[in-house]
Amino acid sequence: MIPESFIQDVLARTDIVSLIERYVPLKKSGANYMACCPFHNEKSASFSVSPTKQFYHCFGCGAHGTAIGFLMEYSGMSFLEAIKDLAQQAGLKVPEDDAPPVDRSQISSLLDAMGRATRFYREQLKQSPKAIEYLKQRGLTGEIAARFGIGYAPDDWQGLHTVFANDYDSLALLEAGLVIQNDTGRRYDRFRDRVMFPILDQRGNIVGFGGRVIGQGEPKYLNSPETPLFEKGRELYGLFQARQAIRESGVVVVVEGYMDVVALAQYGFGSAVATLGTATTATHIQKLFRQSEKVVFCFDGDNAGRKAARRALESCLDQLADDREVRFLFLPPEHDPDSFVREQGLEAFHRAIHDALPLSEFLLRELRSGLNLATAEDRAKLVHEAKALIPKISAPVLQLQTIRMVAQDVDMSPDEVSQALGIRAPAHSKTAPRYAGRRTAPAGPLRQLLRLLSSQPILIGALPADTLHLAGDGPEAGILQVFLDAHENNGFSASTVTALFEACQDEAQKNVLGELLQASDEGRAEEKAAKEELDGHITNLRIALIDHELAALHQRDRQGGQLSTDEKRLLVTLPAQKQALRAGQKIR
Ligand code: GTP
Ligand code: MN
Repeated sequence: MIPESFIQDVLARTDIVSLIERYVPLKKSGANYMACCPFHNEKSASFSVSPTKQFYHCFGCGAHGTAIGFLMEYSGMSFLEAIKDLAQQAGLKVPEDDAPPVDRSQISSLLDAMGRATRFYREQLKQSPKAIEYLKQRGLTGEIAARFGIGYAPDDWQGLHTVFANDYDSLALLEAGLVIQNDTGRRYDRFRDRVMFPILDQRGNIVGFGGRVIGQGEPKYLNSPETPLFEKGRELYGLFQARQAIRESGVVVVVEGYMDVVALAQYGFGSAVATLGTATTATHIQKLFRQSEKVVFCFDGDNAGRKAARRALESCLDQLADDREVRFLFLPPEHDPDSFVREQGLEAFHRAIHDALPLSEFLLRELRSGLNLATAEDRAKLVHEAKALIPKISAPVLQLQTIRMVAQDVDMSPDEVSQALGIRAPAHSKTAPRYAGRRTAPAGPLRQLLRLLSSQPILIGALPADTLHLAGDGPEAGILQVFLDAHENNGFSASTVTALFEACQDEAQKNVLGELLQASDEGRAEEKAAKEELDGHITNLRIALIDHELAALHQRDRQGGQLSTDEKRLLVTLPAQKQALRAGQKIR
């Protein structure tokens, strides 16, 4: 856990405008900066960045957040990664980091080596008719080769010596996996006479390479070893280049090979990424879901492909949600995505993606495989096998649906299947009318109040003592509490609101705060007018509470619930109170 104070420090030392400007060109417009939104497709700018609030907001698609949120959305970083990134830029050290300390100077010298090597390989490609011919023969244009930074490692034991010269003996080259040192201490290039595919991390740093032999040869692909920069289970080939296309199409397709990604891009399908010759890990899946709610795994039609699909299925069950969609596409056995799109064209690939098997159906198909459901034994076996998968599904409705599918297959009731799987039926939601007492406050007036407070924090001091009591116990009340605390402890400013946003643990509170921060900066009212506005919101809040309470009482009365004497009295006094409040408002 990163302490709240650290998050506040990081945000205080970060300027969201210069951060975002690095990725998206911004134009000053009044107090804010505007751009075309990087999170949805648009022609006119509705993405606004506020330097005073240190917050961004898109009026088109509703995306919003702090510098941390921007990095997460834009680069697909996790919260922790974003904090670390910003901390590093601000020259802060992340406290209590239990991972072994990262040596920043080592990392930057490795990145530097990777960059120099990439430039060298690309330069070499231009000078190698053989490599150019190979890429051409595989149908790639220079444009696509450039987009993926494809290069060529010459057929030379110490090719890199030409660029690194004296640095060829440096530790960096060895640690970056670019050279290998034999027992006698002699060094030579790891990649020789290969077409080089740079592997980029989500920030666009080159962290590894895949090198393919030209024509036949073993191994067909040689990958960088794991290094301080490169962990195969984390990276996805092509993700950096695919981000825009994924956002626009709303889907990310996971394929098996480098060439599949590149060939699909060549044919106009830009949303494909590849795992790097490893099984799909939970980290991969997290990264994928951060980019898109819809993920299609596209595996070769052979047996290895089916196994890979099965593993991907297992890794994603506990990251499912009912608004996420996972499908599996199995190409005909003779094809991989590269050969398929070449032979059948882009349209056919789109159709195949569209018609891909939903996760639930693939799961059932896996469960059924090899079983004869005409026998009780195999039906039992199916349920037994299901036990390893269905309880892991973290999407409640989808889980229920798959249970029903299994139930049909094995001729049992869904309840019986749930029981056999050890899944408890979801508790019945309480349908009994809730007595709407003091503790549920209407959100509307309360939010107006919060919005005012967050733009004019000085008014917090002017709140009546019972405001918190009026606020009930929803997320808005939580935020009010946070405001009051902040006011009491250290004064309060708009930039603190931004920091509070990140410190907030409660999702519901976070949503409300996010909306508050989005509200435009419109001219701040005179303080006197603001105080009146404040009183108005408080009165509205009181009136809304009374309405709420009255409605609940009337409803119980109508439904024959016994009202106590006190409650009956309320039916008379509340409307009178309300009138008095209204009258007070008119007088003001
Ligand atoms: P092409 O023959 O160039 O079309 O290759 P492909 O993209 O069809 O690759 P293939 O289906 O043979 O393999 C899929 C992925 O597995 C590759 O992109 C590599 O990441 C990995 N891979 C394939 N062959 C090897 C190998 O010999 N060694 C290692 N380490 N990985 C390999
Ligand atoms: Mn292939």
